[in-house]
Amino acid sequence: MERVDKILNNNIYNQCMAGIEKAEEKREFCLHDTEHSLAVARIAYIINLEEKLGFDKECIYAMALLHDIGRCKEYEEGTPHHEAGSVIAADVLKNCGFSEEEIYEITSAISSHKQISDDVSNKELKYILYRADKLSRNCFECKMYDECYWDEEKKNQTITI
Ligand SMILES: [Fe+2]
Repeated sequence: MERVDKILNNNIYNQCMAGIEKAEEKREFCLHDTEHSLAVARIAYIINLEEKLGFDKECIYAMALLHDIGRCKEYEEGTPHHEAGSVIAADVLKNCGFSEEEIYEITSAISSHKQISDDVSNKELKYILYRADKLSRNCFECKMYDECYWDEEKKNQTITI
């Protein structure tokens, strides 16, 4: 996946990831590292295959790798990460060879991954990201389970994917 590899070597991406790592050094809740992004990518891709949705593999991985990138701005200056993330992601994606149409689809998914509105179909890319993001967390073994702000029904009690 040539364009996805370009993201991993992109300066903006690496600066933001380093900022997130530093800010989360002492965080006891879930981290927003590459481990998390790749889990989201793989779960999203499994959903894509199981439900025969036909989204491009590189777009799914790019979306997942970049979906929390805005956390660097949220930690620095308080901008909500889904908003900051779609702006940063657009820059990175442009530099890594993604088309205008792909950038639009991916950044729309990133900007709505925190809270999805009821009118979004479960076949849309943004809905896949929302689901994969939640499913990626191993709540069933989390030491911070009781302190976590997630609603009880959002927490993964079992492994479903
Ligand atoms: Fe996430």
